[in-house]
Amino acid sequence: MKRKVGIIGYGWVAGENHRWSYSQAKDVEIVAVCDVKQDALQRAKKDFGLSDDRLFDDYRKLIDSGLCDMVDICTPNRFHCEQAKYALNAGLPVSIEKPVGVNSREVNKVRALAEKKGLPVFICFTWRHLPTTRYLKDVIDSGAVGKVYHCYIKCIKESGLWAGRRLEWRFQKEYAGSGVLCDLGSHMIDFLNWMNEDIVGLSANMGIFVKKRQKLDSDEWADVTTDDYANIIADLKSGATANIDLSRCAKTEGQLVEFIIYGEKGYIRYCNYVGEGLEICYGSKEDIAKGKVRVPTPEKYGKVGSIYQSQSFVDLANGKKDNFTSTIDDGLKAQMVIDAAIKASEEKRYVTIEEIRNGLK
Ligand SMILES: NC(=O)c1ccc[n+]([C@@H]2O[C@H](COP(=O)([O-])OP(=O)(O)OC[C@H]3O[C@@H](n4cnc5c(N)ncnc54)[C@H](O)[C@@H]3O)[C@@H](O)[C@H]2O)c1
Repeated sequence: MKRKVGIIGYGWVAGENHRWSYSQAKDVEIVAVCDVKQDALQRAKKDFGLSDDRLFDDYRKLIDSGLCDMVDICTPNRFHCEQAKYALNAGLPVSIEKPVGVNSREVNKVRALAEKKGLPVFICFTWRHLPTTRYLKDVIDSGAVGKVYHCYIKCIKESGLWAGRRLEWRFQKEYAGSGVLCDLGSHMIDFLNWMNEDIVGLSANMGIFVKKRQKLDSDEWADVTTDDYANIIADLKSGATANIDLSRCAKTEGQLVEFIIYGEKGYIRYCNYVGEGLEICYGSKEDIAKGKVRVPTPEKYGKVGSIYQSQSFVDLANGKKDNFTSTIDDGLKAQMVIDAAIKASEEKRYVTIEEIRNGLK
């Protein structure tokens, strides 16, 4: 039987990423969509062939309609937790876009409610659901690079420098929580968690280069209140260290995402700029002496360009988890690191995750 999904928030990520990912998933259909904007609803109507009685301008009406048995939340960050709690209270499994919320206290409340209701909450950490990063995960888990010492992670883009870009919700703290830190950083922080490299403490440096933008509904200029760069130096539970560099004001060809993991036996590198596959340099003395080698992603990880995120959500709702599943526990971990980084940068000091966890109580 097909699972019936209702999408809340039909903007960029839902209309592009999620639509594509659901189209590749089995036994699932989009049966209803909610958005506060009429043009978004009209797009959804066309994209999924929905009748007007399946389009909603209020998430509560969509959830109360009884049409859906799962809910996919793709609204701006500020709305995620309230919408997720409503869906959980109605007995529905939920998928939430990253970051789960605007602070770890509200995310912890969603986690507690999900536990009480016995319902799964999936988090859209998309980098877990691409063929090459799944391959990378398996190589790391196999112990190929041995004990890990350094993780160098970079996610930089130039989107903050696009001429005429206005004061969208992303640039306002009350809607986003933070800027590039939670937007790009939540993925990168989750990547470390996924590699079994939990952050236990960190120093951070964040700031805003583009300080003013014109409002969406008028030409008036207003303050940007979210970071457009963030750098984190972190200690990991394993004893390794991590550097995470994030920016949307770095002039690049598009978006650069790079994960390099150095261990006692060599290194492994993923970089989206050099095509599919991984760069590896590990093994015996002789293997290392040969230098780096590019290895293509094996076919068993799926077709290049696929995003297996929606399938992972459907599987979780059906009670099936694997090495790639991301749940509310992972979402909370990432959110605590985000909170720690904000505190570290504001107070110019080292902050432990334990300190943030103690603040949840
Ligand atoms: N996983 C990823 O790789 C990825 C990529 C991009 C965005 N995101 C996340 O997805 C979420 C949405 O980002 P986006 O880029 O699609 O933003 P967007 O602004 O393009 O879309 C948001 C949509 O939500 C609608 N909306 C706003 N408030 C609403 C409400 N209260 N109820 C219903 N609809 C409402 C808006 O009208 C808009 O259509 C964010 O949390 C963002 O961080 C994740």
